[in-house]
Amino acid sequence: MYANTEPPFPERVKLTCPAVRARKGAERLVMVTAYDFTMARLVDAAGVDMILVGDSLGMVIQGQPNTLPVSMNDMVYHTRCVQRGVAHALVVADMPFMSYQVSAEQAVAQAGRLVQEGGAEAVKLEGGAEYGEHIRRIVSAGIPVVGHVGLMPQSVHALGGFKMQGRGDDAGARILQDARAVQEAGAFCVVLESVPPDVAASVSADLRIPTIGIGAGASCDGQVLVGQDLLGMGRGRAPKFVKAYASLGAEAISAIEAFARDVRSGAFPGLEHTFRANRATSGESNF
Ligand code: KIV
Repeated sequence: MYANTEPPFPERVKLTCPAVRARKGAERLVMVTAYDFTMARLVDAAGVDMILVGDSLGMVIQGQPNTLPVSMNDMVYHTRCVQRGVAHALVVADMPFMSYQVSAEQAVAQAGRLVQEGGAEAVKLEGGAEYGEHIRRIVSAGIPVVGHVGLMPQSVHALGGFKMQGRGDDAGARILQDARAVQEAGAFCVVLESVPPDVAASVSADLRIPTIGIGAGASCDGQVLVGQDLLGMGRGRAPKFVKAYASLGAEAISAIEAFARDVRSGAFPGLEHTFRANRATSGESNF
């Protein structure tokens, strides 16, 4: 393991929720997911604005078919890991399924856990007008909220799958109403997932807070992707809206294959990776 002693990036200031909110109409926002310390450090070093500890970790990290099995304890654990690796970006943590749906009181208490135990600086929850009161109460407790409308993966069974939402005039108008309700409840930005680009464009033009799109076209005020997707680490078919900027999955497999070859042939470890016999017993550092 590395020593984790590398200093953060002192030249960059920590991004705040008001600073994100103020970027509306000025500069597009970049959000990327991360679920652990190593990835959070890489994503933060790339200078993104927000790191989302998404409940997508259920699928990406835990190998679940959807996000529903993710618990609040899972979210707290992963948020804490991410938060330790971040010097600059705003850390947003997802409220998992059944951590806020029951009541506004439950929502405040569970959002509090993500901040107090996980170190999150804001929380994100899925839902529109029906969760206005929940958002209002969380915001009143001093916890900034990111909304999430359009395709809400926690409703996968009700929706009949991970499908685009907002097709047709009525459905598009409902998404706009939901986004407005989230804004009026006090959210400082809102994720629009898998909605037609014209719906995303009219929501983005209507709202005073930034919209962060995923599968919502180019008119949003920012974009979010799952880190592993944009790095090309997934296997199988990626959703249409994913652009892989690298092929780290294939590179990782070749690197591990090379290691396995070296171990089997005896080429690893070489002398340069071996402690000297006369110092090995006298507390020589690993580094
Ligand atoms: O959980 C997640 O990663 C998300 C993003 C896809 C927006 O909600």
